[in-house]
Amino acid sequence: VLADYGISPTHGFLPDVLPLTRLPDPYYHKWEAIAANLQALILSKRLRGVVDRLPVLSTIGLEHDAEWRRAYVLLSFMAHGYIWGGDSPSDRLPPPIAVPLLKVSEHLEVPPVATYAAVCLWNFKPLFMDEEIDNLENLSTLLTFTGALDESWFYLVSVAMEARGAPIVPLMLDAIAAARANDAATVTANLNTFAERLDDLTTLLVRMHESCDPNIFYNRIRPFLAGSKNMAEAGLPNGVLYEDGSGTETYRQYAGGSNAQSSLIQFFDVVLGIEHRPTGEKATPIGDRTGREGHAPAPKHNFIMEMRNYMPGPHARFLGDVQAVANIRDFVERNKDNVALCVAYDACLSMLRALRDKHIAIVTRYIVLPSREVRARSRSRSPEVTRRKVNLATASRQQPQGIAYDARGAAAKQQEADKKGSNLKGTGGTALISFLKQARDETGEPAIEEW
Ligand code: HEM
Ligand code: ALA
Repeated sequence: VLADYGISPTHGFLPDVLPLTRLPDPYYHKWEAIAANLQALILSKRLRGVVDRLPVLSTIGLEHDAEWRRAYVLLSFMAHGYIWGGDSPSDRLPPPIAVPLLKVSEHLEVPPVATYAAVCLWNFKPLFMDEEIDNLENLSTLLTFTGALDESWFYLVSVAMEARGAPIVPLMLDAIAAARANDAATVTANLNTFAERLDDLTTLLVRMHESCDPNIFYNRIRPFLAGSKNMAEAGLPNGVLYEDGSGTETYRQYAGGSNAQSSLIQFFDVVLGIEHRPTGEKATPIGDRTGREGHAPAPKHNFIMEMRNYMPGPHARFLGDVQAVANIRDFVERNKDNVALCVAYDACLSMLRALRDKHIAIVTRYIVLPSREVRARSRSRSPEVTRRKVNLATASRQQPQGIAYDARGAAAKQQEADKKGSNLKGTGGTALISFLKQARDETGEPAIEEW
């Protein structure tokens, strides 16, 4: 059953077949040659020229899904490098990228941009084949925009979390079946295992701090993950024109890459019966929720739902299908006298809430604080004064020496937009902290006991 959705019982939403490190057909060597030099081409601002001269290659030589996925990773990295790797963003993607990228995306049922699948799920390799991939010490990335270890680490933390979280998928499907069979002991046991694993995932998440520097992330890496939707201030008022040669091209707009596109985390919400509302919408009063029988109501349109359109199609369908049979919350509700069951369920909510808490702290350190520094720097003329201010603001962390942390070119344009003040946004397009705090608070709402 899981295989029908492209899900692996051991690797979860990561592919069963490891991502290819290159396309086997020599026909594609020009793409691979660009990928091999991507960082230097971006740094020297020569990527656009090289891509413009590239022939439009056909997708006919792509056979297995692993090859299609490799092509998608190559083309979406090239696309974002092309758009954001110049003095100002490019609002067009030329045929050598646009034509095959649209074909590949359609085949894989993903949007033609650098999604979470492109940069994380399908962009890693184990260092040692005989070791697990849920271990950060055994992972490396295939493609990056910058070559910075910080960028690799940023993606690999997610990969390790996906791998570590993978067994939760069959575990909780088993719990759904057990709830249907009225087997409270199994539901309780599986919930307890789930809670422990969630704690592991939080441990992995906070390892972000070990090897990804916030200023490098904010100024160097993050600009390449940006989307083309609501990006007028950053220089893409209409979005991006995909020149597919049809003659009827129109501008397209997509959200940028975001971990909100992780099917694993959304699976947790679905299976626990957590509901996310559009930002700013308050909870339905408790009285209206109790006594609810049967399946969860159809999810409302909101950012988290929208992000399902950015997941590989089969994964998004899986979430919808699980949503239709998710029964754990109702089961717990109907067995409120079973203390062990209620405690196990609440432990999962509180562990997931704790994970979201740590994530908010990361977002503060990696986006909110660096964006203030950029603002402070631009207000102050004297570099000396700025440096002092910056050091005060981030007393805990030293500026990396020898790395120009002032962004230039298209990236600087994005920061101009950020700087305009209160409209700081996530790459996915949310009003970050208020959105994330609401998602965290919603995580606790179905709890049986008050805490
Ligand atoms: C959402 C930033 C790492 C999981 C978001 C959002 C931001 C953000 C700003 C809001 C959506 C948007 O507009 O893009 C960051 C930063 C990270 C980081 C700066 C590291 C430097 C991670 C990792 C995970 C993760 C490693 C892995 C689980 C999520 C999830 C959401 C989200 C699940 C959707 C909201 C939710 O479900 O609570 N992130 N993120 N993030 N992020 Fe991260
Ligand atoms: N979604 C993350 C951000 O906004 C990557 O920076």
